[in-house]
Amino acid sequence: MAKPAPKKTASAAKAKPARTLTAADLKRSTPRAVTREELIDLLNGDLAKEFQALVQYVQHAAAMTGPQYDAIKAELIVHSNEEHAHAISLADQIDFMGGVPTVDVAQAHISPDSKVMLEQDLEGELDAIVRYRERIAQAEMLQEYGLRRALEDILITEEEHARDLQDALDL
Ligand SMILES: [Fe+2]
Ligand SMILES: [Fe+2]
Repeated sequence: MAKPAPKKTASAAKAKPARTLTAADLKRSTPRAVTREELIDLLNGDLAKEFQALVQYVQHAAAMTGPQYDAIKAELIVHSNEEHAHAISLADQIDFMGGVPTVDVAQAHISPDSKVMLEQDLEGELDAIVRYRERIAQAEMLQEYGLRRALEDILITEEEHARDLQDALDL
């Protein structure tokens, strides 16, 4: 009798391991030259993702369960406040460049599983690192040095966030 194929459970499908930056990510971060207008649009996309990160961290910090997550829950609140600061900085920079800062919020990710929440948060941080590396190079190409500096400060924090999450996930 043929053995039944193992059933793919929903939780197995969700158990995508969190990952560190790969060569493909770094390739994707090769900066594309853009106009000022295109850069403003890209920064507005980044701003919508800062709002998403803020919202997602608030939700995850509240919804995460289990004593092993107490320390990281407190850290997620700190992250949320830092994403708020990033949003303020980006909105100011977009305004300085003559753009209109967005109020759009990119789609947040939630899960009933605390570990999956951390993986979702890490995925967002790794994406932010790739985007801000690219944005810094684009600001440099347009000789927008004040913007570059603001983006560098944001990037440093996103790298710390990714490390906090990798530590919590024991990667
Ligand atoms: Fe951020
Ligand atoms: Fe972050």
